[in-house]
Parts: sequence; C-alpha cells; structure tokens
Amino acid sequence: MKKIFNSKEELAYYFGDLLLKASQEKPELYIALSGGSTPKAIFEVLAKDYAKSIDWTKIRFFWGDERCVAPDDTESNFGMTREYLFDHVKTRGVNIFRVKGELEPKKALEDYIEQVDDNVPKANGLPQFDIMLLGMGDDGHTASIFPHQIKLWNSSATCELAQHPVSGQNRVTLTGSVINNSQRIFFLVTGSSKAEKVDKIINQKGNYTQYPAALVDTNKTVWLLDNDAARELSNK
Ligand code: 6PG
Repeated sequence: MKKIFNSKEELAYYFGDLLLKASQEKPELYIALSGGSTPKAIFEVLAKDYAKSIDWTKIRFFWGDERCVAPDDTESNFGMTREYLFDHVKTRGVNIFRVKGELEPKKALEDYIEQVDDNVPKANGLPQFDIMLLGMGDDGHTASIFPHQIKLWNSSATCELAQHPVSGQNRVTLTGSVINNSQRIFFLVTGSSKAEKVDKIINQKGNYTQYPAALVDTNKTVWLLDNDAARELSNK
C-alpha cells in the first residue's frame, strides 16, 4: 500500500498521528528507526507537535541500521535522532538501544545483536518490532543492505556487518528476516531522486528484485511518499 503526501510535513503529521495512536494501544512500543536525512523532517514535527501528546517513555528505540562511527559523528543515525528528536522529548535513556558505532565493527555487531535479541519481544522465533521505519537509497538499498551485498538480506543472523558500496564505510544492519517479522513496516521516502526506484519496486518492473527494498514484505508495508518520490507512479 502507498500514501502520497503534498509535503514532507504532511507526511510527518500522518506518521505522528499514527505513532500517537500506536503508543496509546500498548503499554510499550518497540520501534526500529531509519537513518539518513529523510527522517529529520519527521523528527522535527514530532519534536515540535508531539512532545507532550506522546508518552515517549513507553517507546523503546532501536535502529534498522547504523554507521560504524561514534555517536557524536555527523554520520551517526543515533546522533541525528538525538539532535532532531531525543533532545526535544522526554524519553527514558534506558529505552534507547543504539549501535555502539565507536567500537570495532565486529564488536559493535555482536553487541547490537545481543541488545536486540535480549530486549525485543519474540514472535515466530525472531525479534518482532511493532513498527519498522525504513528509508530507501537512490540505488534501492534499505537499512544498510545494498544491492552489491543483497545476500545479507537472507542471513539467518539478527544483524550483519555491511559496507557502503562507494565509501566502504562499515555499517551494522538488521537482516531481512527481522525486518519482515515486524508487525508494521513503513517506508519513508521523499524526493525526486527516489522516484525511479519507487516506481520499479512498487510496480514490480524489470529486474526489480535486484533491489533490497523490493524484498521487504509488501503485505505489511505502507510506502509514505511525497509527490516528488511518487512522480513516476502515475506514468503507465
Ligand atoms: C542510512 C539509512 C539508509 C537510508 C537511505 C535513505 O543509514 O543511511 O538507514 O537506509 O534510509 O540511504 O537515506 P536518505 O534519507 O538520506 O535519502
């Protein structure tokens, strides 16, 4: 399913209302956040207009992926979330389960696998997040599973160590079985640079399964798109 919004802000309020409702329905909520730049606009709205209405102490925060950098590095997804969200709402520190990107990558991977396996409730024998937020790169990657390492999607491990195809940057990423075990999955995708892959994946065009984002369980997934990211969808 897809929902198209006239602006990132409109998308953000839709997601904010959804998160508010989800947080009221359960005593605690397990969410895996996406990284990159897209979530910033969402987090800004959440910080501005949902700081009081959402009980942030009920939410347990994880990440779908993280760069192997220190938390205060400009590349850190945790650091971005702290700047745009956590510094503005009342969370419980113990409910924030970040990838320790400052560690040696293999250690960061082992530590995060332990955090997820020990703290996220299980279903179907796997950690099950209530909400999985995903972004998509221009190349069709999601989390930190890139086309050149698409085999990582099917790993039996909870997380894997991946490398960015251009920079070689080490990343810790959830794998496909955990991502697809989530109760609800949302792609947050905005901007015209994503339009071609959005169309190929949603409309299952050509060899679309070469893109990791195409391997996400469509039955559980809602694509939240702005007009720019959705602009190819209307073309037949
Ligand atoms: C990351 C992400 C990644 C991101 C996409 C889109 O760590 O970079 O989790 O999967 O969601 O690359 O990134 P933008 O939002 O910056 O376009």
